[in-house]
This record gives sequence, C-alpha cells and structure tokens, in this order.
Amino acid sequence: MTTPQLRPTRDWIAHFRRNRAVLLTIPWDLGAELTDAERAAIARSIQAFQLGESSEGRNLMRYARAWAARSGDVDYVEAIRLLIAEEQRHARDLGRFMELNGIACIQHRWTDSVFRALRNLLGTLEISIGVLVTAEIIAKVYYAALREASESTTLRRICDQILRDEVRHVEFQTEQLARLRLGRAPLLLRATLALQQFLFVGATLLVAWSHRPTLARGGFGFRRFWGACRSEFARDFFGRVEPLNLAGRPFAEPLKRSARRLELRGVPEATSCGPSAPLASCGRVGRPPTDRRP
Ligand SMILES: [Fe+2]
Ligand SMILES: [Fe+2]
Repeated sequence: MTTPQLRPTRDWIAHFRRNRAVLLTIPWDLGAELTDAERAAIARSIQAFQLGESSEGRNLMRYARAWAARSGDVDYVEAIRLLIAEEQRHARDLGRFMELNGIACIQHRWTDSVFRALRNLLGTLEISIGVLVTAEIIAKVYYAALREASESTTLRRICDQILRDEVRHVEFQTEQLARLRLGRAPLLLRATLALQQFLFVGATLLVAWSHRPTLARGGFGFRRFWGACRSEFARDFFGRVEPLNLAGRPFAEPLKRSARRLELRGVPEATSCGPSAPLASCGRVGRPPTDRRP
C-alpha cells in the first residue's frame, strides 16, 4: 500500500478552479423526464439530499479562517470557499431538476438538522469536516444508486458530475483530517478513529433506512449499500491518508487489513462504489473532455 503525501492546499485551489472549467453539460432542454413511478420512488430522497447540499457553509468558513490563522495555511480559506461553491452547485442542479419534474424543494428535514448540529457540536474544524466527509463518502454510493434509479438522462448527468466532484472532496477532506491529527497521542487518536467509525455506521444505517425506496430502485439493497459504503470508507479513511497517522500503531492493524483486502480484490481507487459495482460504470470518471457545459 502506498502512503500518499498530503498535497499542499494551493494544489486543491488549482483543482477546484480547473474543475469549474470542465463541467459536464446537463441536458436541461430534455425537460421533465421522470415517470410517475420514478418520481414516487425518488422524490422524498432527492429532496433530502438537495437540502443537504445547500448549506451556506458559514460555520465551516469560520473554522477554516481560524485554522488558517493558527497554522499559517492561508490558502485553506479559499479552498474551503471553492468546496462550498461546488456543494451549492450540486444543490442548484438538483433543485432545477426537481423543479422541472414537479418535486418541491424543502427547507427542513430532521435528518438534515441532526447532521448540521453534529457538524457544529464542538465548534471545531476537525468535527465539522469529519462529519461532512462521512456524509460525502456515503453520498458517493447514494448518487451511484440515484443515477440508476430512473431512466432520466438529465438526472444521470447530474449524478455523474456530483460523483466526480465528491471523489475529490473526500480526498481533500481526508487529507486535511490527517493533517489535523498528525502527532496526536495514541490513545486520543484511537478514540478519534473509533468515534469516526461510530458516526459512519450510524449515518450509513440512517441513510440505508430513510432512502431505501431510491436505493432499492437503483439496485442497492441493504447488503450491497452497506458493503459499498464500508468499502469506500475503509479505502478513503484507512487505505489512503490515515496510514500517515497510523504507522506503528497496533490498534490500526485491523483497519489497515480491511483497506488492504480491498486492494487485493482489485478495487481501483476512486473508481468504485463497492466490490460489485465499479463507479466507472456509474460514469464517475473518464468522461470525454468534450462533454462540458458551455
Ligand atoms: Fe455535494
Ligand atoms: Fe462534497
């Protein structure tokens, strides 16, 4: 397993700026495409995710500014601003699709309120992005399922774009978490990782239950969804960046073994939503560069 370096924040700024110039074209002129059965299966679910994507990120910006002042990484504020802008684009695209298909946007859902409260539980950057990246890891599997839950070309293209973006968001966030946790005392690091896993398990079960009609329609029964989320989590968290913090820590062995098993199974990094469903087939990576917004 290769241990990656933490990329400098200015590289992430360059990535986000480059990404703005190569967005996929969304075929809005196709109009309303959802059948009644598709709308019934995905409406409640897409409402919740659209709401989740629509945060203004004021608290996150505040934590980013505090980190920049503390660490001297002044670029971090701009990188977070660009990340939030991508999330807001996700919300705009989903909202426009919903409007086209007669699905109302919502302002509140209890799951969203819980998620936002958790992000700001202790008022720290680590908690905020630790919760956010957990949701983003699960979202990589959710949007792969949503993509398959209807025949809508428009929705599939939106999901392709979101999946491309979220892969990089997760890398950006896990690298920053690893940076924040560098040098942490073993016991404290162990507790941190246990909490991270606890949060992941709870959030995955919640999404699996509350979005089951959409997930099932997209071909993700509970077992497949759970397996795919677990695979993504193990690779993103313990297979890629966390080894920087876990080197030589005996308690980390089971986690690293889990990530290594994924490698042995030949699951390519950032191209799968689980052992049985390569995300390349979900259109996440490798689209031709001609397929861009004007
Ligand atoms: Fe997003
Ligand atoms: Fe994201």
